[in-house]
Amino acid sequence: MQAVILVGGEGTRLRPLTVNTPKSMVPILNQPYLEHNLDYLKKHGIKDVILALGYLPHRIKTYFDSVGEQDSHLTYVVESTPLGTAGAVKNVEPHLHGEAFYVFNGDIVTDIDLRDMYTFHKREKASVTIALTAVENPTAFGVVETDNNGRVRRFVEKPGWDEVTTNMINAGVYIVEPEVLKLIPSQTFYMFEQGLFPLLLKQGEKVCGYPSTGYWIDMGTPEKYLKLHHDLLHKMARDGRDGGVVGGIGEGCSIHPSVQITGPVLIGKNCKIGPRVRIIGPVVLGDGCQVDEGSVIEGAVLWEGVHVGAEVNLKDSILAANCRVAGHCWIVGGCVLGDGVEIGEGNRLGQAIRVWQGKKLEPGTLSF
Ligand code: GDD
Ligand code: MG
Repeated sequence: MQAVILVGGEGTRLRPLTVNTPKSMVPILNQPYLEHNLDYLKKHGIKDVILALGYLPHRIKTYFDSVGEQDSHLTYVVESTPLGTAGAVKNVEPHLHGEAFYVFNGDIVTDIDLRDMYTFHKREKASVTIALTAVENPTAFGVVETDNNGRVRRFVEKPGWDEVTTNMINAGVYIVEPEVLKLIPSQTFYMFEQGLFPLLLKQGEKVCGYPSTGYWIDMGTPEKYLKLHHDLLHKMARDGRDGGVVGGIGEGCSIHPSVQITGPVLIGKNCKIGPRVRIIGPVVLGDGCQVDEGSVIEGAVLWEGVHVGAEVNLKDSILAANCRVAGHCWIVGGCVLGDGVEIGEGNRLGQAIRVWQGKKLEPGTLSF
């Protein structure tokens, strides 16, 4: 079977992380999101994958050209202007083989059983099957009301609380019969959520909801991005690779004997960690990170090439590639630093502040 992955969005809620990096290439455990997703698809026997691209398409293509994704066959289709979620699928129609196919939102991480979903879809003879997952706050998603037989009755995208009748939401995974493509206008901005799903329901087509209790997260905000890392690292630790360093220390690392590591911590290649540093997982250090004497890093994700000076307190925050944090800084409480940000000595950043890529903060200018 084929799969279409929607990777054309601009990832606005993740900015500044997505200014230079499309959401699908944002690293998860030091590996681009999309690579994890392709592995997941491969496990379910799906190797023919069409990427519907729009924003920074060259970043995605260049990466997969360089690593040589031998096991999956990737087709790249670039939109010159965003066509919306359904318009993007219509746009790849010439590459589809005329059978039922999967569609994935390109920012979800899940272990939904795709084979079982397909069996359900065929048994129900649905035109479209939407995977469903339960969430605490359905207002941030598409709410899907079904009857007792799993048939979708109503679809409401981003409802107000007064419209919420269920906590089951659209998990961003669909199985679509090819005939449905006739209902999507060509080269026109058109959405599954506000356009095609309501239209199918109005026309009496059979749209089914496939309820899943598997792991599911939309990593589209910094909070969810951190939560995803925390979940995955705890899972790695549970899977037997002990607390402390999970997945082995990357090659070329130099870690001072006095460094204390607790909780699950992933360390990339060529990292340098100085004396008396404490790393309290869940934490990820990307390749080539350096942490100087006496600093404490807790619950944070650092992309490649980040330098943290001495006696820094870094907690629950995300630092994109090549950030520089000088000594005696505090960066806590959900801060997000874009690529190449430089934070001068003694600054204190908190309250989920976001610093745009390339910005330089003079020593001691911020204090929360
Ligand atoms: N190719 C292409 N073109 N892709 C697009 C476009 C477009 O014009 N617009 C959005 N996408 C991609 C995004 O890159 C993302 O992978 C996916 O479509 C969904 O877009 P989001 O912007 O992440 O949507 P959302 O999270 O607000 O809501 C969607 O996902 C929820 C589940 O995570 C909806 O489908 C909700 O109904 C759903 O519950
Ligand atoms: Mg999303």
